[in-house]
Amino acid sequence: MKLVPLCCSLFLTLTTAAGAGVALVPQPVQMAAGKGNFTLSASTRILYPAESPETGRIARLLGAEIRQSSGLDLAVLPAGDAGRGSKIRLLLDPGLIDTGAESYRLTISGREIFLTAQTPAGLYRGGQTLRQMLPAGSRKRSIVLPALEIIDQPHFGWRGVHVDVGRHFHSVAYMKRIIDWMALYKMNRLHWHLTEDQGWRIEIKKYPRLTEIGAWRTEPDGSRYGGFYTQEEIREVVAYAADRFIDVVPEIEMPGHCMAALTAYPELSCTGGPFTVQTQWGVFKEVYCAGKEETFAFLEDVLSEVIALFSFDYLHIGGDEVPRDRWQACPRCQERIKAEELADEAELQSWFIRRIEKYLSARGRRLIGWDEILDGGLAPGATVQSWRGMEGALTAARSGHDAIASPGSHTYFNADISTLDLRKAYSFEPVPDGLEPDKIRHIIGGECCLWSERITEENLDYQLFPRLLALSEVLWSNPRQRDYADFLQRVRSHYPLLEAMGIKYGPEARPVTLLTRFDPEQKLHTVTIESGEEGMALHYTLDGTEPSTASPRYTAPLTVTRSTQLKAGAFRDGRAYGESAKADFNFHLACGAPLHLENSPSPRYSAGGERSLVDGLRGSIAFTDGRWQGFEGVDLVATIDLGETRPLHRLRAGFLQDTGSWIFLPAFVEWSVSREGGTFKSVAAFDHPTPAGTSAQRIQEDQVELPGTLARYIRLRARNVGLCPAWHPGAGGPSWIFVDELVVE
Ligand code: ACM
Ligand code: ZN
Repeated sequence: MKLVPLCCSLFLTLTTAAGAGVALVPQPVQMAAGKGNFTLSASTRILYPAESPETGRIARLLGAEIRQSSGLDLAVLPAGDAGRGSKIRLLLDPGLIDTGAESYRLTISGREIFLTAQTPAGLYRGGQTLRQMLPAGSRKRSIVLPALEIIDQPHFGWRGVHVDVGRHFHSVAYMKRIIDWMALYKMNRLHWHLTEDQGWRIEIKKYPRLTEIGAWRTEPDGSRYGGFYTQEEIREVVAYAADRFIDVVPEIEMPGHCMAALTAYPELSCTGGPFTVQTQWGVFKEVYCAGKEETFAFLEDVLSEVIALFSFDYLHIGGDEVPRDRWQACPRCQERIKAEELADEAELQSWFIRRIEKYLSARGRRLIGWDEILDGGLAPGATVQSWRGMEGALTAARSGHDAIASPGSHTYFNADISTLDLRKAYSFEPVPDGLEPDKIRHIIGGECCLWSERITEENLDYQLFPRLLALSEVLWSNPRQRDYADFLQRVRSHYPLLEAMGIKYGPEARPVTLLTRFDPEQKLHTVTIESGEEGMALHYTLDGTEPSTASPRYTAPLTVTRSTQLKAGAFRDGRAYGESAKADFNFHLACGAPLHLENSPSPRYSAGGERSLVDGLRGSIAFTDGRWQGFEGVDLVATIDLGETRPLHRLRAGFLQDTGSWIFLPAFVEWSVSREGGTFKSVAAFDHPTPAGTSAQRIQEDQVELPGTLARYIRLRARNVGLCPAWHPGAGGPSWIFVDELVVE
């Protein structure tokens, strides 16, 4: 990166945002304070050279954006620089500074605000910097800005946001909102994931069934879900983005993740179908047949219509998560492997992508694929988007290919904030460790992903913000200036702006964590409440109500000895912050009793160990909450020893159903009891068949009434479904039983 020196000796270089009284994200590469102030008021005019209509357009857009976020309505006028009075002057100056297409210079002095850039894109980016300096929602008549000079340019050219509209559809109006948010934070690539197993979202004139059939799915409750963009609407979104210097990268998934297309045109599969547009999430075995010429005729027709709609050079063809089962069993695919002298199905996948790459490059388009396109050999000219860690980016860059870094660990913003908090998002390093210096230029940037299995228009902003600010700074700013404490301060001063734009941003970190420790001898839980962020007040309740600042304040670990619901919330400046955390305690006769398990739970889901099934702590609907024990591919057989014969009234057990995570209710559950531990008498049994297509997440509580029964030993047998059934995406693989507690009363 080449930087020009700041032009004026009056300016002092600033290292922190707060230094100039402005809080910018991303942090500009160079910022220096000047002397004096500029007063901006309702009479300040935005001026552009009359002979530059493009500068005029950018000036009007900036005026509208300032009005939206700050409420200030500034006149936008064509004029030379001779105009008198308070002004913001925009100027395109191709000879300005040689720092790249998006660079700009913003100078605030007592006389004027002067924004200049080599390119229209640079002018627009600089306008966003200015917009961020104005207080959001301000009703002040005048705003005083400190004199300063900024010279700025992006570190990475590719700064992307990936939006999956396959699982959940977003309207054109909503896509425009996302583009507005991207623009504010200088993001420049909208990666639009348009086709999926659960829906085909783009009108293709030659294949109308793609949207007539492929855009709609029948949910398990019988309702219809779907939607698609007409070609006119696609053009509208692309133009809206282009006005803000954001390029749109369409993604048309192949050879996998295509069940919506195959439902419409089953003849493009290996088996001929029939198929249904999927309602489950996951990876499906049905893929395009690589042996049929019809597949390529179809894909080329589709791509030719897509090329006509999108102006950007790049086109994404997916390429991720392609099971090889169908190709292995398909005579045509096997014939192709032979005819093309390919070693196996991995090379068939590579051959498939290379064939598509040839088609695209002949039409001036550059192919991007997820890192699986490396398998079996990379197509010439292909750009790799690395999502399974950074290995794909490393391999691609070393072989002279460009790469976009999107490791799930740091950029999948669909992830819960407890897995990927703001600090972690900010620690993202797009250049893989160990990459040779002469190959670093192949890392063209990074992208965050919003996979939409659990994202709708209702919660997308909650997932994207504030993490987008971290990615924006990682990709734009000088990596040597990265400073989390300073960044966090700036993020917090951006919240009013986000609010003014109607963005329901989420928390910076998991607001509250409840840590429980069970003492089986004392039969009590010690609960520690932690906040993921500093400066939080923690309050809790023990009666199931939502905590408020009037609830008891947490100061030291709590001891829980009776059945109760504990809820804890974090508060900043008296306002609830994020969601509260809760723990359900259900003390019973067997709490702390010795327990024998015939099969061990998976170490990944042990819920804290041996006696977790009799610790009185109940699980939530989230299988990852640390309170469920998971048994993979085996039965749950648990025997409790109460220590002496006791009268029993009731037995209960909680099982989780979450088939999207391969978790099924046990096929069969049997309770039995014994006085001496030798012979057990069956007291109740339950069947839990899982109907085809079941996707609801729920907790099943099996309950047995046993008035007058005396026993010392209690046994529960829960039979695993075994292999995931044929209708399930994991068909043939092991399924799980999840159990949280065996309650004896
Ligand atoms: C991906 O997450 N399957 C690219
Ligand atoms: Zn085939």
